[in-house]
Amino acid sequence: MNEIKAPKGTRDIFAPEIHKWHYLENAIHAYYKKFLYQEIRTPIFEHSELFSRGIGSETEVVQKEMYTFTDKSDRSLTLRPENTASVVRAAIENNLFENLVPLRFYYLGPMFRYDKPQKGRYRQFQQFGVEVFADDSPQVDAEVIFSAVDFLKKLEIESVQLDLNSVGCPQCRPAYLEVLKKAARAEESKLCADCRRKIDGNPLRIFDCKQPACAEAAGRFPVIGDHLCAECREHFVAVREALSWMNVPFVLNPRLVRGLDYYTKTAFEVTSGQLGAQNALLGGGRYNNLIKELGGPDMAGIGFAAGMERIILHLEHLELPGRKILFVAYGDPQWLAHAVQLAEVLREEGYPVYLDYQGKNLKKQFKKADRVAAAFTLLLAEDEIRSSSVSVKNMATQEQIKIPLKDLNAWLKENF
Ligand code: HAM
Repeated sequence: MNEIKAPKGTRDIFAPEIHKWHYLENAIHAYYKKFLYQEIRTPIFEHSELFSRGIGSETEVVQKEMYTFTDKSDRSLTLRPENTASVVRAAIENNLFENLVPLRFYYLGPMFRYDKPQKGRYRQFQQFGVEVFADDSPQVDAEVIFSAVDFLKKLEIESVQLDLNSVGCPQCRPAYLEVLKKAARAEESKLCADCRRKIDGNPLRIFDCKQPACAEAAGRFPVIGDHLCAECREHFVAVREALSWMNVPFVLNPRLVRGLDYYTKTAFEVTSGQLGAQNALLGGGRYNNLIKELGGPDMAGIGFAAGMERIILHLEHLELPGRKILFVAYGDPQWLAHAVQLAEVLREEGYPVYLDYQGKNLKKQFKKADRVAAAFTLLLAEDEIRSSSVSVKNMATQEQIKIPLKDLNAWLKENF
């Protein structure tokens, strides 16, 4: 029979890598609570319309990358390709704008994009992200960006670059797009077929093309920074000033565009030289029209999301504390009940305990204790049962001592 493999672009995560995931997940929960963010969990699938309206029907994500299916009642549903639209939908639907203060969320979980899999790029991948609503101050942009960079620093991921831009707003962007289209048309013959198609639909995306000829032409195109309205310009100046208060270094990148259409004003990305082609660790920005467009109040929003697989790839240095294990061994099957009870008492005390029910004899049990890398083996045999004690063998030094059961917990607290 044919072996069934995991679908392309998905991966199984297990030990030892899973320990890094636990570490990262715990770090996210601990870090974002310090900023008063509350965790939000939204469904893995949503009505497809949420994403076509939220992310933009002209984006690559919506046009090419969504896992969309119809359910048995003919509804069009989509596995979420990102979570910002879902968090906005959840806030509107649950009236959180009126009931929750402050409106700051963080999330983590799987996203789905029909992308070309390669190192750091998957079809099912995990993001963690944050969304802050109801605050249009430039300082909040800086705080969100600070938190992203500082979080990476706390994980000892420091060789990163923060790129910053302002992508304008519906007041100033349309006029800029016309100027950009004109410039792109003038260089049309030098652009790849894909970029030629983007000129009319989504010319900003030409800046994303990795083809050398397109990148070279795009280097001559006008940039949005020279076409911002006064409000966007002032906002951007204030964001940069607040970033300097917070000691966050950044690179102004006038050609930074984002793959999702909802952004207004501030846009940013953090990249790492360690990742090769898929070098974005995280990206985000302000989206002051999305909430209204999805049927909510006229309210500002800003956030970012990070690719957790890409962060995990940076945690090679992480030395996770070895999982300390106690192994309970029994000298003869007649002492198995005692061994089971001892294991139970020890687990109640919080120790990770392994007991081998298949252990035919002590030699095999000690071999197993070595294989699970137990720190101590606690042996119960006739002598120990009679004297209400246990023999404790240090698996590294092979030293063995006998300890009365009543003193075992105190001894372990000191020595384990
Ligand atoms: P995004 O730039 O599309 O933004 O994705 C954010 C991050 O998710 C990327 O920087 C990357 O690390 C990771 N990522 C994206 N696609 C993949 C993939 N196929 N495989 C592995 N990792 C991937 C958003 O998703 C926005 N919702 C961010 C945001 C939140 N903006 C405002 N609030």
